[in-house]
Amino acid sequence: MVANTMTTEAPQRIATAKPVVAERTEKTGTGRLALDAQDVHVYYDTFHAVKGISLPIHEKEITALIGPSGCGKSTLLRCFNRMNDVVSGVRIEGQILYKNQDIYAAGVDPVAVRRRIGMVFQKPNPFPKSIYNNVAWGAKINGYKGNMDELVEKSLRQAALWDEVKDKLQQSGLSLSGGQQQRLCIARTLAIQPDVILMDEPASALDPIASSKIEELMLELKKDYTIVVVTHNMQQAARVSDRTALLWLGELVEYDETQTIFTNPSQQKTEDYITGRHG
Ligand SMILES: Nc1ncnc2c1ncn2[C@@H]1O[C@H](COP(=O)(O)OP(=O)(O)OP(=O)(O)O)[C@@H](O)[C@H]1O
Ligand SMILES: [Mg+2]
Repeated sequence: MVANTMTTEAPQRIATAKPVVAERTEKTGTGRLALDAQDVHVYYDTFHAVKGISLPIHEKEITALIGPSGCGKSTLLRCFNRMNDVVSGVRIEGQILYKNQDIYAAGVDPVAVRRRIGMVFQKPNPFPKSIYNNVAWGAKINGYKGNMDELVEKSLRQAALWDEVKDKLQQSGLSLSGGQQQRLCIARTLAIQPDVILMDEPASALDPIASSKIEELMLELKKDYTIVVVTHNMQQAARVSDRTALLWLGELVEYDETQTIFTNPSQQKTEDYITGRHG
């Protein structure tokens, strides 16, 4: 029987559309490295979660970490500011250089590391304090001596939240919407005046409008900060990042400029992942 091409259903299609990489009009990178992971291994007791990853992070660029669930993205991200130190049974091998110093070397204070390399989590986690104190808290703890009102305003402006909260700074941070709470957490991180901001799926709990605000904010922030972002959203990685690393079962499959990863990757696995044939 000859199929009528007008009426038969199209065969089930595999999603093979590649995300469109944003045109970069403005180059922000300095050509220097902000961080440099060298042969990093992470074990949770006997489980080998990150297997010898080397990853240079370029200053004032956005680096995206992508890959299927459980491949080690968050684990690797947490290595960059020693957040894994607080996980019991964890062992880290290799080096992570920040300004040519290994942040895991003896005598390095992890709290000092986290002041320079801040983190924003997937789920917005404001403190049960006022909007003002959410932003001021970290700076206060660190003994900030400058004008706190100015710091709070500047941080909220940088996080694109000032106009929405300037008349209610004494209200609880928890009274804000999810997207506003995430920007408040970004403001809180900025108030500590870090060099690097690590973001673990910062927009995954948000609606598309709030999510695109976070993306715009990231593009604005990279003029002054280095950003490393974990995302499951291929379009987001393609839109915002300068470089992309694909992880797979704890290993680095490919790391290159985002343009190359999404248009002409060198590994079949990358091609399959970004076109939705895997994961
Ligand atoms: N605290 C822990 N103790 C034991 N194993 C862990 C711990 N945290 C993560 N793992 C394991 O390490 C591996 C990597 O986990 P990780 O959270 O880094 O993955 P991921 O790529 O961020 O995944 P997702 O996309 O789901 O967030 C997984 O197999 C996970 O089960
Ligand atoms: Mg994760």
